[in-house]
Amino acid sequence: MTTSVMLPDNPTLDEYKKRLAELSERGVTEFARAANADELEAARIEFLGDQRGKLREFQIVLGKLPKEARPEAGRLFNAAKARLTDALELRRQEIAKLGDDSTTRPADLTMPARRSWRGAKHPVTLVIEEIEGIFRELGFTIAIGPEAETEWYNFGALNFPPNHPAMDLHDTLYLSGEGLLRTHTSPVQIRTLQRYAPPIRVLIPGRVYRRDFFDPSHAPAFEQIEGLCIDEGISFVDLKATLTRFANRFFGQRPTRFRPSFFPFTEPSAEMDVQCGVCGGQGCGVCKQTGWVEILGSGMVHPAVLEAAGVDSERYSGWAFGMGPGRIAISRYGIPDIRILYDSDVRFLEQISE
Ligand code: PHE
Repeated sequence: MTTSVMLPDNPTLDEYKKRLAELSERGVTEFARAANADELEAARIEFLGDQRGKLREFQIVLGKLPKEARPEAGRLFNAAKARLTDALELRRQEIAKLGDDSTTRPADLTMPARRSWRGAKHPVTLVIEEIEGIFRELGFTIAIGPEAETEWYNFGALNFPPNHPAMDLHDTLYLSGEGLLRTHTSPVQIRTLQRYAPPIRVLIPGRVYRRDFFDPSHAPAFEQIEGLCIDEGISFVDLKATLTRFANRFFGQRPTRFRPSFFPFTEPSAEMDVQCGVCGGQGCGVCKQTGWVEILGSGMVHPAVLEAAGVDSERYSGWAFGMGPGRIAISRYGIPDIRILYDSDVRFLEQISE
């Protein structure tokens, strides 16, 4: 930086001239030396600033000069100001032409590049997409339905007897007025059957709601995938073959088994298990010492369900299943607490998603 040009309070004309010449000389040098817009602005404030600029001092002192000296001093002052202003403007244009200061400061080629931050798919989405892919190969198309349903679609048409415990306030989230949040994707079976004539092979992913508190193994909102296959002459053999094929594709060559079960909308009903991938069937914490992990509920669609949807149950038959991709993600990736799937904690998601 420059040392201050000290100007006595009551200078002679000669002194005034000399200091003014020194000042404008230094100002012009400083402006020319500025490497970028910021440095130039700092120099402008130092020399031409309204409040504390060095030239401002000379303007104030002008009034204190002997009267006869003032006209000449005033002319010189104006000339110095013009010279500084021109030098400032010239440098401003030069800097603008340089663009940014990267031209005056060489780039540091050794600096590590900034990694771009890309999002990734959620583990449950990955599982859903993989399951969809497998069923697409088997000739299934994807269908969806509404999350806000009527009691009839969610329960009545699915052969739930009136006052079934699942309809209880404790399990179902009712909407004010009419309707409820669907407790499973099965109502979309009815909607599909009403809309399309058999043969039908659809896969129905979607979110469902139950009146549960969040705990390590429950969530009040979660994903399900429903499957429905209806045609003439479809039997339990088709159900078993298709679901076994699916399990082999998705879980690898792990043994599977079917256990008898009950759902109001299927008869007979079966739950499908796959051998625990953690212990290989020996029994461990993940499979609660059984050696098996439950993956879906299924069964032959009840004739009453076909009839409720307007399908001739004498002519057509078929099977359906429902599974929870969240639970499948948990066992596949060894996730200890279902709530992790809802936290969107990037540190967790990064471990699973590419
Ligand atoms: N809807 C059942 C449930 O949520 C699953 C299911 C679907 C069972 C289709 C059989 C057939 O538990």
